[in-house]
Parts: sequence; structure tokens; C-alpha cells
Amino acid sequence: MRVIEKISEAGALAQRIREAGKTIGLVPTMGDLHQGHLSLIRQARKDCQQVFISIFVNPTQFGPSEDYNSYPRDLQRDKRLAEKEGVDIIFAPSPGEMYPEGYRTFVEVEKLSEPLCGGSRPGHFRGVVTIVTKLFNIIRPHIAYFGQKDAQQAIIIKRMAHDLNMDIEIKVLPIVRERDGLALSSRNQYLNEAERRAAPILYKSLQEAKRMIETEERRSRNIIHRMEEMIKREKLAKMDYVAIVDGETLEERERAEGKVLFALAVWIGRTRLIDNLALELD
Ligand code: PAJ
Repeated sequence: MRVIEKISEAGALAQRIREAGKTIGLVPTMGDLHQGHLSLIRQARKDCQQVFISIFVNPTQFGPSEDYNSYPRDLQRDKRLAEKEGVDIIFAPSPGEMYPEGYRTFVEVEKLSEPLCGGSRPGHFRGVVTIVTKLFNIIRPHIAYFGQKDAQQAIIIKRMAHDLNMDIEIKVLPIVRERDGLALSSRNQYLNEAERRAAPILYKSLQEAKRMIETEERRSRNIIHRMEEMIKREKLAKMDYVAIVDGETLEERERAEGKVLFALAVWIGRTRLIDNLALELD
């Protein structure tokens, strides 16, 4: 396994691999690898002859009062985990390598970046799409892998790759969860014991939504109201948003029908967690 910090080196290596007729899979990450990331790496390993992962805590996707400085970083641990999964190349550039003096260009996906997390984290998706575009241009993978955990991110990246005519297949893989339903996230380690016990409220409220759907309740207002009530009852939780939106356009839906996404963000103490459930209903 090679660890590369320079764009020129990563780009040249990827180019040689392509010229040798081999397929390249890319898993973009911010490091602090967990089973969610590893599930993407395993799929890439199955599909592709060469697997790149990127590890880069991307400053442009963090707001000024967010956790950019405290975000967990442990490259040595990540290297061990990646090596075990058979990753071929880790691309781990410095912030200065990706955003040198004079950097001025950003990529924005309109509309899809506005609702849900876009509302609470202005500029977040602009940063995400910019860094993913740069990674795609540097590595030019055949397939790139993303998690359904960040459903809005995955939808936005698919849109960007399509709109910018990138010849890259985007694969989106299911959410990996703890036994109690909490979606794996690097931010879970910010939680203290009591907060950790409260955190499955996101998953529980999604399960309640699913139960309501199964009992033929399709009115979004009623489902959202019930989810909000559950969250309010959890003392350590504070709701950011709960929404039922179209699974493709992310526009609000009055009724849960067709391709729908149930999405929520909740503060557990000082940690903001997200979760979602995508359903195809008749
Ligand atoms: P990061 O949070 O490190 O996540 C990297 C990838 O792992 C994303 O595609 C994310 O959706 C996926 N992932 C995270 N938790 C998961 C889980 N529990 N189950 C399945 N997949 C999971 O997302 C980012 O980094 C960044 O925004 C990035 C795309 C790298 C751009 O900076």
C-alpha cells in the first residue's frame, strides 16, 4: 500500500494504472475510518482492480463554528485499517496542497444544496462538491463510492458528476449501524455515556415513521409530528430538522408516496448527528 501526499504523484500513478487497462475505484473519506467507510472499501475491492481512498479533512465544508479543528485525525490507525482491507493507494494531501495560496474556484449544485443539511450548514455542500470534483479530476476513477448515511451528499454528487459530464459511476451503499441502530459516524466519539445512550433516538424515530407508513399513515405532517414528539421527549436531544422529501429532487412532500426520503438532524448535547431512511412506496 502506498501513501501519497502530492497531487502530481497521485495523478500520475492513476494515469499509469488507467493506461495499463486497470479499473480504479475511489473511496473519498475524511479519515478516522470505521465500519461504514470499510463497507465502501470492501465493495470497491470487489469491483475494481486498484482501490484508492482519500483521507482529507476538507476545511471548506466546515462552517466557522464547526468542528474542523477537533475533527478526529489518526493517519497511522487509518493506514493499518486500510492496509487490512487491501487498499492499494491512500491519497492524503495537506490543506495547502488542495487549496494553495490564490485558490479561487468552487463548485455549487443549485437547489439540491439548499434544503435539509444545506439549511443548517450554509456553504457545506459547496465545500463537499468542490473537494469531490477535485478528487475526481486528480484520480479520475471509474467508480466512486459513497454512503447512504449522507443521503443528500450522495444525491448532490450524482447530480454534479452527471451535470459536469464526468464519466464516473457513483455507487451509493447502505448505512452501517451499531447494534442499537445508531448510524456509525466519526462524530459519535464526541458523545459522553449519557449522550451515547440518547443517540439512538434518531434511528428510533425513523423506525416509528416506518411503522406509521405500515399502518397506512401517509400524511407527512402527522409522521413528522410524531417523530418530533419522540425527539422532544429525549432530554439530551434537540431537533435541528425532520423532513419527508422527494428521494430525487429533495423537495418537501405532503404525502409519503413514491420515492421518499425521511431525513433528520438532531443535536445530542453539542454533537450534531444525522440519519435517514429511503423508501419506495406505492
Ligand atoms: P466521511 O464522513 O469520512 O465519509 C466518507 C464516506 O463514508 C461518505 O460517503 C459517507 O457517506 C460514508 N459513511 C459514513 N458513515 C457511514 C455509515 N455509517 N454507513 C455507510 N457509509 C458511511 O462524507 C465525507 O467524509 C466527506 O463529505 C467527503 C465525501 C469525503 C468529502 O470531503
